[in-house]
Amino acid sequence: MRIAVIGGTGLIGTRLVARLAAEGHDVVVASRATGVNSYTGEGLDEALAGAETLVDVSNSDYLDEAAANEFFYGSTLNLLTYGAAAGVRHHVALSVVGTDRLARTEGGYFAAKAAQERLIRQSGRAYSIVHATQFFEFIANIADAGTNRNVVRLSRAVFQPMAADDVAAAVAATATGVPVNRVVEFAGPEQFRLEELVRRHLRERSDLRDVRVDPLARYFGTDLDEDELLPGPDATIAPTRYADWLAAGGRPNVELEERRA
Ligand SMILES: NC(=O)c1ccc[n+]([C@@H]2O[C@H](COP(=O)([O-])OP(=O)(O)OC[C@H]3O[C@@H](n4cnc5c(N)ncnc54)[C@H](OP(=O)(O)O)[C@@H]3O)[C@@H](O)[C@H]2O)c1
Repeated sequence: MRIAVIGGTGLIGTRLVARLAAEGHDVVVASRATGVNSYTGEGLDEALAGAETLVDVSNSDYLDEAAANEFFYGSTLNLLTYGAAAGVRHHVALSVVGTDRLARTEGGYFAAKAAQERLIRQSGRAYSIVHATQFFEFIANIADAGTNRNVVRLSRAVFQPMAADDVAAAVAATATGVPVNRVVEFAGPEQFRLEELVRRHLRERSDLRDVRVDPLARYFGTDLDEDELLPGPDATIAPTRYADWLAAGGRPNVELEERRA
């Protein structure tokens, strides 16, 4: 099957492309690095020609609401429009568990993701939206976002993170299946308090930042309730535990970071 992966050079994209290619699919890697810009439309005609399925694992360069909204709205509209013209039969997008409720209460980046999902649902096109929990590879970003003068302040929220490889497997299985026309949730096998896992993650890297719970701390601009990042009871649970991921050399996508530098 010919599958176009928008954001195919990113953290999830590289893993997804490798997995789909190993399964024998004809994969088109689409991102600005390969001459395809989903926001401006540049290169989309060629990238989507003959594709049965389009998978959107792109991300905004900016996390603030206005910029993220502009990116996800413009880009998704282009992908749906060019996709329809190219005869794409299944539109798959990756988003975050809890997007709707986080967008409703606080907005921010999640409002942009919710707008992306709304456009897909209202497009009349056959689709599947994959909701994943936070990636293990993203824990360092959570620490950095909460850091001020060497102190990391985090809310008391609980989360159920998962490995990027498991996210890629979930997206691949969804993309090669039939459109479900709804959201499907995936999560890791264990729950942690943000503060507990961030502290453990930093210590593993000999990072001595002081990690504290702060009831006023916000999560990427959002005021989290304790269970707001958790999946529903029907979520598919991914196999990789944090300790096993770490033992297997788990780390941020160093190759990707080097390529971007
Ligand atoms: N972080 C988490 O814990 C988490 C949890 C659940 C879901 N998600 C979702 O997962 C998705 C993927 O995240 P990620 O961490 O894999 O992202 P990432 O590593 O930042 O990769 C983003 C990809 O998007 C591409 N891109 C950016 N602007 C583009 C444009 N205008 N046109 C075409 N391609 C463009 C980038 O390539 P170029 O720079 O070459 O264009 C890159 O391939 C996001 O939508 C995010 O909301 C994240």
